Amino acid sequence: MEWKMSQTTFLAVVTFLSVIPGGMLNESRSTKGLEAQHLALGSTYLHRRLKRGWIWKQLFVPEEDPTPRVIGQLKSDSDQGERSIKYLLSGEGAGDVFEIDEYSGEIRTLKKLDREEKSFYVLQAQAISRRSNEPVEPESEFIIKVQDINDNVPQFQNEPYVSSIPEMCPIGTTVAQVTATDADDPMFGNNAKLIYSILQGEPYFSVEPKTGNVVTSWPNMDREARDQYLVVVQVKDMLGLSGGYSSSTTVTVSLTDVNDNGPTFQHHMYTFAIPENAAIGTTVGRIMAKDSDIGINARMTYSLNDDQEKIPTFIIKTDPETQEGVILLDKPLDYESKRRYAIAAEAANDFVDTRFLTFEEFRDRTTLRVVVEDVDEPPAFLSPVYTWKVPENAAVGTVVGIVGARDTDTANNPIRYSIHKPSNPTKAFQIDPSNGTITVARGLDREAADWHNVTVEAKETTQNHLSSSVVVFIKVLDINDNVPRLARDYQPYICEGTQAGEVIQLLSGVDPDEPVEGHHFYFSMVPEKNINPNFTIRDNQDNTASIVSRRSTFTRKDRTHYFLPVVLADSGSPALSGTSTLTISVCSCQPAGHCPTGGVEAMALSMGVSLQTLLGILVCLVTFSADRLS
Ligand SMILES: *[C@@H]1O[C@H](CO)[C@@H](O)[C@H](O)[C@H]1NC(C)=O
Ligand SMILES: *[C@@H]1O[C@H](CO)[C@@H](O)[C@H](O)[C@H]1NC(C)=O
Ligand SMILES: *[C@@H]1O[C@H](CO)[C@@H](O)[C@H](O)[C@H]1NC(C)=O
Ligand SMILES: *[C@@H]1O[C@H](CO)[C@@H](O)[C@H](O)[C@H]1NC(C)=O
Repeated sequence: MEWKMSQTTFLAVVTFLSVIPGGMLNESRSTKGLEAQHLALGSTYLHRRLKRGWIWKQLFVPEEDPTPRVIGQLKSDSDQGERSIKYLLSGEGAGDVFEIDEYSGEIRTLKKLDREEKSFYVLQAQAISRRSNEPVEPESEFIIKVQDINDNVPQFQNEPYVSSIPEMCPIGTTVAQVTATDADDPMFGNNAKLIYSILQGEPYFSVEPKTGNVVTSWPNMDREARDQYLVVVQVKDMLGLSGGYSSSTTVTVSLTDVNDNGPTFQHHMYTFAIPENAAIGTTVGRIMAKDSDIGINARMTYSLNDDQEKIPTFIIKTDPETQEGVILLDKPLDYESKRRYAIAAEAANDFVDTRFLTFEEFRDRTTLRVVVEDVDEPPAFLSPVYTWKVPENAAVGTVVGIVGARDTDTANNPIRYSIHKPSNPTKAFQIDPSNGTITVARGLDREAADWHNVTVEAKETTQNHLSSSVVVFIKVLDINDNVPRLARDYQPYICEGTQAGEVIQLLSGVDPDEPVEGHHFYFSMVPEKNINPNFTIRDNQDNTASIVSRRSTFTRKDRTHYFLPVVLADSGSPALSGTSTLTISVCSCQPAGHCPTGGVEAMALSMGVSLQTLLGILVCLVTFSADRLS
């Protein structure tokens, strides 16, 4: 006796396949499934239990079939068809998912199954004799396998996909790998066999069908033309055959910049105008070369090539913010001498990448034309400053000097000169309005004003009456026109008992003149027939002189005062001299050497003359001898 099992799933499989969503009945596929099942059934024959075992160990049932149906039959070969045997089923799903016809041994499903939930059921079968209630076969275990159908949609993992690749990258550069999974049985048929394809993004990108590796398929993708692509990749199960499920995902691909563009000027020539009086450092203009790259790849430096001039008139600086070339004036302009400049300018990328362009292609040249504009400029003095000298005795009308100014403009307007009045308060000088000749207008006195710093204005007589001014420094040179004098009102006295040879007074002199080599005073006595027996003057050779007594017998009783004329001469050329008469009093000098009231009172007391009379005598009789030696 032995168990037999027959499979009755053929119809069920065929029926099920017809309800695949979007699918079509594919005869050859269902046939193939059936063949596989036969094969599986055949191979599970149990040799060990050859005598009394199950003939088939496994039954198959397709998942997702909503219709309850017979999937197989168990039969003991002792069952002669007289319904004497009772079949019983136990184990996983018995009575709930599967039931057995106790008379025929037919096993049927009770509900639809989901392989992805449970892929097989382990069950036990019993055959019991209804008469004896004894098992006619030993209980045996068998398996019902749930057969996969393609009821799961492949799902992309790790979304979203974002990638960036450098522009100009070679064909085949990996962009991203997309991966999808499918919950269906990877071992059964093609239900979980996935194939990738491109829905959007061709011809720039392609995907390897099996790996999902997205690669570039277009040479020279240019970021400057387009910097982002949305690549839609589809995955299909069933190896992409119709009737399968599919999903899609998007890979966002950004192109990163490479230095594949050099700077380019929009024009062959840029023209600028600048007034001739523009200050150094003035911005003449800006130029800009375009570079479609970004960031570091767009950075450039400008330069000028002005080989006509050793010291360039213009310089160019690169504005780091805007990448513009800023042209600056670096030398004064003069419309009257040069009106036009043509300069070669260049822009060069700071960083070059010779994989994409040649070294030369990373630079571009243009020409700058600078037109100098005429400006009505004020007259310019021939000298920025004038310093002249004039002797103080210069006669009125003496020419001190000539200032000159010129209108630098092409119009060359005539100019009128004038002296700024506040700078010439004493009206000591005047200027010829037409030729700039400055002459002495009044007698000069160096001792009153030794400098005359006059401001001279030059004014254009036509057009805008522009003017400029200059300071003329006039130094008045000294002339020896002052007589030297004693430094103060000396009141010398001589004590009774003074010895011959004693110095009774030290003299010094003053002179308002200012000789170049300094003052030299000469002191002397008035030349007389007889030598003065009482006093003498000793010139000390240092602009001082001493009055020295010549005898030692001075007494007030004898005489109370003596007159001593002193001649003082300077060293000018010609020299000037003057004579002062000093009154020397005789004093008792008690206590010793002391003459408390000086010579004046002593004399008044002894002489009995009034003080008034005395003062009249004491006035220094200074005579100015202006006897110039011509
Ligand atoms: C059935 O499947 C085979 C391959 O398995 C295929 O060549 C054929 O075109 C399919 N038929 C239909 C009607 O889909
Ligand atoms: C300047 O002009 C005055 C008056 O017109 C004339 O006397 C004088 O000679 C001129 N001087 C010069 C240097 O031309
Ligand atoms: C004139 O200029 C001279 C030299 O610069 C200067 O020494 C003098 O003080 C000035 N005099 C006046 C009155 O400005
Ligand atoms: C010198 O002194 C004497 C005596 O006092 C006097 O007579 C004489 O006039 C004096 N001479 C002169 C030059 O002062």
